[in-house]
Amino acid sequence: MLSFHAPLPLSLYIHFPWCVRKCPYCDFNSHEAPGTIPEAAYVDALLADLQQELPAVWGRPIQSIFIGGGTPSLMSPEGLERLLSQLRALLGFPPQIEITLEANPGTVEQQRFAEFRAAGVNRLSIGIQSFDGEKLRALGRIHGRAEALRAAEAAHGAGFDNFNLDLMFGLPGQEEAQALADLRQAIALAPAHISWYQLTIEPNTAFAHAPPVVPEDEVLWVMQEHGQETLAAAGYVQYEVSAYAREGARCRHNLNYWQFGDYLGIGPGAHGKITLPAEGRVVRSWKQRHPQKYLDTAGSGAVVAGRRELGREDLALEFMMNALRLREGFDSRLFQEHTGMPLTVVSRPLERAQELGLLEWQPLRIVPTERGRNYLNELLQLFMPEE
Ligand SMILES: C[S@@+](CC[C@H](N)C(=O)[O-])C[C@H]1O[C@@H](n2cnc3c(N)ncnc32)[C@H](O)[C@@H]1O
Ligand code: SF4
Repeated sequence: MLSFHAPLPLSLYIHFPWCVRKCPYCDFNSHEAPGTIPEAAYVDALLADLQQELPAVWGRPIQSIFIGGGTPSLMSPEGLERLLSQLRALLGFPPQIEITLEANPGTVEQQRFAEFRAAGVNRLSIGIQSFDGEKLRALGRIHGRAEALRAAEAAHGAGFDNFNLDLMFGLPGQEEAQALADLRQAIALAPAHISWYQLTIEPNTAFAHAPPVVPEDEVLWVMQEHGQETLAAAGYVQYEVSAYAREGARCRHNLNYWQFGDYLGIGPGAHGKITLPAEGRVVRSWKQRHPQKYLDTAGSGAVVAGRRELGREDLALEFMMNALRLREGFDSRLFQEHTGMPLTVVSRPLERAQELGLLEWQPLRIVPTERGRNYLNELLQLFMPEE
């Protein structure tokens, strides 16, 4: 049986499944919004969904909430206020709770941000992608450069000192100078955090069916290296594959995923992972993916589309898939605390990874080397169960 000595940190993810328009590169569970979004029914459904989850996490404080999507900034401030005040009543928020809302620059203005803040949101994540009008059109975005700039200024104006800007690089036809110009523009807007993702072409997206021409691997490599230098010089420390933060501004919600903490997921398609120490079990579950099906089933057992207990090998591999994304690696005690198994169960792959120069196994820390970070798949392969 797995053995857990202390409760794991617990987060809450809330999925908002609608957007103004579907972007051609996006494979998230997001759908073009109907004429009117059934917001009141959706908030009721989320609350009913959460109530069913509560018995499994009774008495455990929620350290962070992330409202992602989709485009949750399409919610009315009143709807968001109702959601958060009910959550506060159900869960009892600790004073330091981090509450993030994802926002699309095409859907916001300062007044709206101020109202979101009054409702309890204390961190924004704004999907900028690029500041280049031509690139934004190629990405099918609903906003241009001016709205992107305005969104960051509105975040400051509404009193958010903690916000993230999402940018992507490796865009169709993008040259290195253009990617670096995007980063410099983002830095000039003084966000606390920057997420800098390489554009990937995901199956079942419009881009997969009609692939755009993206930069060659060698160009991407140099772009990434120079981008990292630009961010570091401006005081943004890389702490995960795509995440860069100023001192004290690392995203606690995402860190909890990467450190293999527990999380509840409510909303269409949301995933959760909960440790049940008394039973020595870790269980994953996921909700109905289609918004209408979700609305129809929330509050009943049928809202859970699937559930799976994680076996010992899954736990070891999933822990590594998350924790080895962290640039500083992890405290070796975390493995036992968050998987319920002693670190010795992965001694062999750890030794092998060390021999191959992919990680450093220090007495109290396990840290991927630069080679390990560059060949993360090769490193993770070592933790795959043998056939
Ligand atoms: C779930 S999206 C939500 C953000 C918000 N809906 C928006 O787009 O403005 C989170 C972020 O993932 C990134 N992303 C989405 N699809 C991607 C892809 N195919 N490759 C790389 N990054 C992607 C984008 O930077 C996006 O802002
Ligand atoms: S706005 Fe964001 S979530 Fe919606 S389709 Fe575009 S990238 Fe995906």
